[in-house]
Amino acid sequence: MWRAIISFALAFVGHVAGQTVYLAGDSTTAPGGGGKGTEGWGQYLHYSLKIPVVNKAFAGRSARSFTREGRFDEIGKLLKKGDFVIIEFGHNDGASHPDNGRSDCPGSGTETCRYTYDGATETVHTFPYYLEQAANSYTAKGAHVIISSQSPNNPDESGVFVSSTPRFVDLAKTAATNAKVDYVDHNAYALAAYKPLPVRTVDSCFPNEHTHTSAQGADLVAQAFVRGLVCGGSLLSGYVKNATSAIEGACLK
Ligand SMILES: *[C@@H]1O[C@H](CO)[C@@H](O)[C@H](O)[C@H]1NC(C)=O
Repeated sequence: MWRAIISFALAFVGHVAGQTVYLAGDSTTAPGGGGKGTEGWGQYLHYSLKIPVVNKAFAGRSARSFTREGRFDEIGKLLKKGDFVIIEFGHNDGASHPDNGRSDCPGSGTETCRYTYDGATETVHTFPYYLEQAANSYTAKGAHVIISSQSPNNPDESGVFVSSTPRFVDLAKTAATNAKVDYVDHNAYALAAYKPLPVRTVDSCFPNEHTHTSAQGADLVAQAFVRGLVCGGSLLSGYVKNATSAIEGACLK
């Protein structure tokens, strides 16, 4: 009896100590960002967390190509009960003609399209469908999933602050609702972090073009994610090492 209790307790402690956060995403999250000196925000998340972060985001990928290439499955194979997975896509998911192997089928449900890419015809699903499939498979393994909306492009590109919301932001929320997992409106929290800054500071976060961030930009975008996480009350917010009062920005309504 006591032996059973002690081994259960040890297993529990070992399990809690071994939790990991995995990231699925594109270049805006990935190690090395979009190249040319840029960096993905996922590389800065560990500064705010008490548990390790493994950044499996990969440049150039969409929800569809991350699925087709087995990258969601690869994360699934690594998962232990109690791990966390953050899923963030959108930058590469838009329509393209001819098909570039990344565009999702338009819509938000179980609609399908037939696209031909690289000589092969593929049944293509909607953006939420791909995210929900991944989220459901992770939840089934006892992992906690957070679907995060895509990071914004340079909101000061035109010289005045413009907060535009790509359609994949709402679709990410739809996916989180359907899969019954946490949602962080990373897009909105990152825009709120950029907004008070001078135009030239925001511009310097985007050294090459309007999508990929500098190291400083990636750090700011990571902090904005943590603000959104803490405000949303996800289980992962219990592993944030910063005092809530020390985190920049307010909760968004
Ligand atoms: C939390 O603190 C670390 C320094 O210990 C810092 O690098 C990180 O950006 C902070 N996170 C937030 C969300 O403010």
